[in-house]
Amino acid sequence: MAIRNIREMGDSVLNKVCKEVKEMNGRTMDLIDDMFDTMYEADGVGLAAPQVGILKRIFVVDTTGEDPMVFINPEIIETDGEQRGYEGCLSVPGKSGMVTRPNYVKVRALDENLEEFELEAEELLARAILHENDHLDGHLYVERVEGELVNNSDLMAQEEEE
Ligand code: NI
Repeated sequence: MAIRNIREMGDSVLNKVCKEVKEMNGRTMDLIDDMFDTMYEADGVGLAAPQVGILKRIFVVDTTGEDPMVFINPEIIETDGEQRGYEGCLSVPGKSGMVTRPNYVKVRALDENLEEFELEAEELLARAILHENDHLDGHLYVERVEGELVNNSDLMAQEEEE
Protein backbone atom coordinates (compact mmCIF):
# COMPACT_ATOMS: atom_id res chain seq x y z
CA MET A 1 0.00 0.00 0.00
CA ALA A 2 1.25 3.44 -0.84
CA ILE A 3 0.24 7.03 -1.24
CA ARG A 4 0.22 8.03 -4.89
CA ASN A 5 0.75 11.47 -6.36
CA ILE A 6 -2.57 13.24 -7.04
CA ARG A 7 -2.67 14.87 -10.47
CA GLU A 8 -3.95 18.43 -10.55
CA MET A 9 -6.09 20.38 -12.98
CA GLY A 10 -4.03 21.24 -16.04
CA ASP A 11 -2.57 17.71 -16.21
CA SER A 12 -3.91 16.27 -19.46
CA VAL A 13 -4.43 12.82 -17.89
CA LEU A 14 -7.50 14.32 -16.18
CA ASN A 15 -9.15 15.06 -19.54
CA LYS A 16 -8.89 11.58 -21.02
CA VAL A 17 -11.57 8.91 -21.30
CA CYS A 18 -10.67 5.87 -19.18
CA LYS A 19 -10.69 2.26 -20.36
CA GLU A 20 -12.88 -0.54 -19.04
CA VAL A 21 -11.35 -3.03 -16.64
CA LYS A 22 -11.43 -6.51 -18.20
CA GLU A 23 -9.72 -8.58 -15.52
CA MET A 24 -8.60 -8.28 -11.92
CA ASN A 25 -4.93 -8.80 -11.20
CA GLY A 26 -2.36 -7.89 -8.57
CA ARG A 27 -1.56 -4.56 -10.20
CA THR A 28 -5.17 -3.46 -10.19
CA MET A 29 -5.71 -4.68 -6.61
CA ASP A 30 -2.66 -2.63 -5.56
CA LEU A 31 -4.05 0.37 -7.44
CA ILE A 32 -7.35 0.13 -5.55
CA ASP A 33 -5.58 -0.20 -2.17
CA ASP A 34 -3.39 2.78 -3.02
CA MET A 35 -6.39 4.83 -4.13
CA PHE A 36 -8.02 4.33 -0.71
CA ASP A 37 -4.76 5.23 1.08
CA THR A 38 -4.33 8.30 -1.09
CA MET A 39 -7.92 9.43 -0.62
CA TYR A 40 -7.85 9.05 3.18
CA GLU A 41 -4.43 10.72 3.43
CA ALA A 42 -5.82 13.73 1.52
CA ASP A 43 -9.08 13.82 3.55
CA GLY A 44 -11.15 13.24 0.44
CA VAL A 45 -14.49 11.43 0.09
CA GLY A 46 -13.75 10.06 -3.37
CA LEU A 47 -10.93 9.44 -5.80
CA ALA A 48 -10.89 8.24 -9.40
CA ALA A 49 -8.05 6.29 -11.04
CA PRO A 50 -7.13 9.08 -13.52
CA GLN A 51 -6.43 11.32 -10.53
CA VAL A 52 -3.44 9.10 -9.82
CA GLY A 53 -2.57 8.93 -13.51
CA ILE A 54 -4.19 5.57 -14.36
CA LEU A 55 -6.72 5.58 -17.19
CA LYS A 56 -8.96 2.80 -15.86
CA ARG A 57 -12.67 2.99 -15.11
CA ILE A 58 -12.29 2.70 -11.32
CA PHE A 59 -13.21 5.01 -8.49
CA VAL A 60 -13.40 4.75 -4.72
CA VAL A 61 -15.76 6.59 -2.40
CA ASP A 62 -16.16 6.85 1.35
CA THR A 63 -18.42 9.66 2.52
CA THR A 64 -18.50 8.67 6.22
CA GLY A 65 -14.97 7.36 6.85
CA GLU A 66 -16.49 3.93 7.54
CA ASP A 67 -17.96 2.90 4.19
CA PRO A 68 -15.18 2.23 1.71
CA MET A 69 -16.68 1.39 -1.67
CA VAL A 70 -15.03 0.61 -4.97
CA PHE A 71 -16.77 1.01 -8.31
CA ILE A 72 -15.33 -0.63 -11.42
CA ASN A 73 -16.77 0.03 -14.91
CA PRO A 74 -19.67 1.96 -13.32
CA GLU A 75 -22.80 2.89 -15.21
CA ILE A 76 -25.27 5.49 -14.01
CA ILE A 77 -28.63 3.89 -14.75
CA GLU A 78 -31.02 6.35 -13.12
CA THR A 79 -31.00 9.82 -11.61
CA ASP A 80 -33.73 11.91 -10.02
CA GLY A 81 -34.27 15.15 -8.15
CA GLU A 82 -31.82 17.97 -7.63
CA GLN A 83 -29.31 19.11 -5.04
CA ARG A 84 -27.28 22.30 -5.07
CA GLY A 85 -24.15 22.72 -3.00
CA TYR A 86 -20.44 23.41 -2.83
CA GLU A 87 -18.23 20.74 -4.28
CA GLY A 88 -14.48 20.26 -4.29
CA CYS A 89 -11.96 17.90 -5.82
CA LEU A 90 -8.55 16.64 -4.71
CA SER A 91 -7.29 17.60 -8.19
CA VAL A 92 -8.36 21.22 -7.61
CA PRO A 93 -6.82 21.79 -4.18
CA GLY A 94 -8.08 24.53 -1.88
CA LYS A 95 -11.08 25.45 -4.05
CA SER A 96 -14.82 24.82 -4.12
CA GLY A 97 -17.64 25.70 -6.45
CA MET A 98 -21.43 25.61 -6.51
CA VAL A 99 -22.69 22.62 -8.49
CA THR A 100 -26.22 21.38 -9.10
CA ARG A 101 -26.56 17.62 -9.45
CA PRO A 102 -29.29 14.99 -9.18
CA ASN A 103 -30.17 14.18 -5.55
CA TYR A 104 -30.66 10.49 -6.29
CA VAL A 105 -28.61 8.07 -8.33
CA LYS A 106 -28.81 4.39 -9.14
CA VAL A 107 -25.47 2.96 -10.23
CA ARG A 108 -24.42 -0.44 -11.50
CA ALA A 109 -20.77 -1.44 -11.19
CA LEU A 110 -18.37 -4.27 -10.47
CA ASP A 111 -16.75 -4.73 -7.09
CA GLU A 112 -13.10 -5.72 -6.51
CA ASN A 113 -14.02 -9.35 -7.29
CA LEU A 114 -15.57 -8.17 -10.58
CA GLU A 115 -19.00 -9.09 -9.26
CA GLU A 116 -21.82 -6.85 -10.38
CA PHE A 117 -23.82 -4.83 -7.87
CA GLU A 118 -26.35 -2.04 -7.93
CA LEU A 119 -26.52 0.77 -5.43
CA GLU A 120 -29.02 3.53 -4.81
CA ALA A 121 -27.68 6.69 -3.21
CA GLU A 122 -28.88 10.13 -2.23
CA GLU A 123 -27.43 13.48 -1.22
CA LEU A 124 -23.66 13.48 -0.52
CA LEU A 125 -23.09 9.89 -1.62
CA ALA A 126 -25.00 10.52 -4.87
CA ARG A 127 -22.97 13.68 -5.45
CA ALA A 128 -19.70 11.83 -4.82
CA ILE A 129 -20.60 8.98 -7.19
CA LEU A 130 -21.61 11.39 -9.97
CA HIS A 131 -18.48 13.53 -9.43
CA GLU A 132 -16.15 10.52 -9.55
CA ASN A 133 -17.96 9.01 -12.52
CA ASP A 134 -17.37 12.26 -14.44
CA HIS A 135 -13.61 11.81 -13.90
CA LEU A 136 -13.73 8.53 -15.85
CA ASP A 137 -14.86 10.46 -18.92
CA GLY A 138 -12.29 13.20 -18.48
CA HIS A 139 -14.57 15.75 -16.85
CA LEU A 140 -13.90 17.89 -13.79
CA TYR A 141 -16.60 19.52 -11.65
CA VAL A 142 -15.24 22.96 -12.57
CA GLU A 143 -17.01 22.55 -15.94
CA ARG A 144 -20.32 22.49 -14.03
CA VAL A 145 -19.67 25.30 -11.57
CA GLU A 146 -22.18 28.13 -11.34
CA GLY A 147 -20.28 31.37 -10.91
CA GLU A 148 -16.69 31.44 -9.73
CA LEU A 149 -14.55 28.96 -7.86
CA VAL A 150 -14.03 30.14 -4.28
CA ASN A 151 -11.15 29.55 -1.89
CA ASN A 152 -12.03 27.03 0.82
CA SER A 153 -10.61 29.42 3.44
CA ASP A 154 -13.11 32.13 2.35
CA LEU A 155 -15.94 29.60 2.38
CA MET A 156 -15.11 28.50 5.94
CA ALA A 157 -14.95 32.12 7.13
CA GLN A 158 -18.31 32.76 5.48
CA GLU A 159 -19.87 29.70 7.14
CA GLU A 160 -18.63 30.84 10.55
CA GLU A 161 -20.33 34.21 10.08
CA GLU A 162 -23.67 32.63 9.21
NI1 NI B 1 -12.66 15.01 -8.21
